[in-house]
Amino acid sequence: MNEISEPVILSEEALCAFRNDVMSGLKKYPKELQSKYLYDAEGDELFRQIMNAPEYYLTDCEMEIFKGQCDKMVAPLRDLKGGLDLIELGAGDAAKSYYLLDCLMSQGFDFTYYPIDISANIINLLTEQIPARLPGIRIKGIQGDYFDALQKTVAISSRPKLVMFLGGNIGNMHPEEAINFCTELRRNLSSGDMVLMGFDLKKDPWIIFNAYNDQGGITEKFNLNLLSRINRELGADFDIRLFHHYENYDPETGACKSYLISKTDQVVTIGEEPINFSQHEYIFTETSQKYTTAQIDAFASGSGFTPLLKLTDSKGWFADVIWRAE
Ligand code: AVI
Repeated sequence: MNEISEPVILSEEALCAFRNDVMSGLKKYPKELQSKYLYDAEGDELFRQIMNAPEYYLTDCEMEIFKGQCDKMVAPLRDLKGGLDLIELGAGDAAKSYYLLDCLMSQGFDFTYYPIDISANIINLLTEQIPARLPGIRIKGIQGDYFDALQKTVAISSRPKLVMFLGGNIGNMHPEEAINFCTELRRNLSSGDMVLMGFDLKKDPWIIFNAYNDQGGITEKFNLNLLSRINRELGADFDIRLFHHYENYDPETGACKSYLISKTDQVVTIGEEPINFSQHEYIFTETSQKYTTAQIDAFASGSGFTPLLKLTDSKGWFADVIWRAE
């Protein structure tokens, strides 16, 4: 997800897709909104605040892994020292990957860094800022959808690839979607290419629950911002005071789910269309799936990869794994 703020003006096509997705999600029973729409400029800013909230451990845990264990990440790559493409899906501000880039440079790897992001603004910033911090780095930013952009890098260069997908972003997919994503990733790679992925792990359920239900109410604002965004961009009349954030973590399935609950019977109008809500009715907005390390290994083998390396932070709360395409 984006970690640098920008004014976002949706194209006519994107606005139309947003409207269609919102209308079909709210006409369903139960109601749902896609989590990708949480990230407009306000949502990006609120997510940045979430990452700094004391309860939200994911960013700190993964940063600890990158700050302290990059030498271990580089070890499985040593045969690729002579030529490697490093591709980062959803690069954001590349704050964690910076440590790996630095380590690869200091160990004399010949590589090109391809940050991929949906935001052109992020790509422009990265292509300015990364060479300023790591002089001599070869960087080619690509703006676009993950798989389209990944195919572009495959067309540009036939060198072996390491694809990074960090931050626990894979957790925002349902497990079936996540396995399809890994399978699609494998289909776009060649045998011997590698992936480096961050997964949030199952742990004390209260720690997980609190991370998505912070005392400062930032996650609540982040979730409610989706309704404000619909008001701003689709001319709706949600009264956000009549909805509240509800979080639920199920330790059995590992699913941490966010909902918006209607406090009362009400009718909201989106454009010209009325949508009815009954009191206590929910809109499902996001899942953040937690895994065991055994489930992560099963993910690898189920999508055509062999697990090579698993690194966790000192509390054992978050894992970054390296898999090789079979
Ligand atoms: C972006 N993603 C990994 C975050 C997560 O932890 O699922 C999004 C988030 N939603 C609420 N808090 C954080």
